[in-house]
Amino acid sequence: MARSNYKQSFKQKAKTQKNGSKKKKKPAPYRMHDDYFHKAKKEGYRARSVYKLKEIQEKFELITPDMDVCDVWAAPGSFIQYIKRIIQDTGRIVGVDLKPISKYSQTNINTIVHDIFDFNTLKPLVEEYIWEGNRFDLITSDIAPNTTGRKDIDQYASVELNIEVLKFSDVFLKKWGNLLLKIFKWEDFGDIIGPIKNRFEKFTEYKPLACRDRSFEEYIICWNKK
Ligand SMILES: C[S@@+](CC[C@H](N)C(=O)[O-])C[C@H]1O[C@@H](n2cnc3c(N)ncnc32)[C@H](O)[C@@H]1O
Repeated sequence: MARSNYKQSFKQKAKTQKNGSKKKKKPAPYRMHDDYFHKAKKEGYRARSVYKLKEIQEKFELITPDMDVCDVWAAPGSFIQYIKRIIQDTGRIVGVDLKPISKYSQTNINTIVHDIFDFNTLKPLVEEYIWEGNRFDLITSDIAPNTTGRKDIDQYASVELNIEVLKFSDVFLKKWGNLLLKIFKWEDFGDIIGPIKNRFEKFTEYKPLACRDRSFEEYIICWNKK
């Protein structure tokens, strides 16, 4: 879906669901600087999100040495820092974000400042880093919409964003490659399952402990692109 259509359908959904929402339990207060935040600072990571990826890695061994990985929605770049530790010097990483990502000292990390939904202009930029016509072994995405506080609306937007990431993987992920998605899990969750099943052999849902208590986000690991 083009971005303008995405925005349009998002608004439409917001309107149609306006009267249908139920009263929800008040979540725990939001603490921006929680234990994971301090841990990340202490360990030299750029964001607390790294611990979500770390848990996923420790459970599923998604990243292996020598892999070529693309990380979308990548700034400030903690996923990239962690991935680099595993792929070491032989694999390569490309990060894409709207915001510039501060440089890494390693030469096997490249970053692109771009909107991942402007696919036509992004494609040639990514292609510069798809070495020898290869695609990526793994794509990781930490994508999430700007939240409104309305679970139904936020989840719908999250599904739409992830459908765009799936389209990105159609082009840039190798056959048999894996894809990590972040999704807000609520009533429309089933809408993302069909598009995943069409493209991948199987998938696993996982909610790392590092996800905030009040958050209804979880990750989906899509295994073996068809
Ligand atoms: C939660 S942060 C990602 C954290 C990252 N995984 C890390 O480990 O450091 C979300 C990022 O999404 C980026 N973003 C939002 N909309 C985007 C878009 N359309 N295209 C690319 N990046 C986008 C924002 O600039 C922001 O840096």
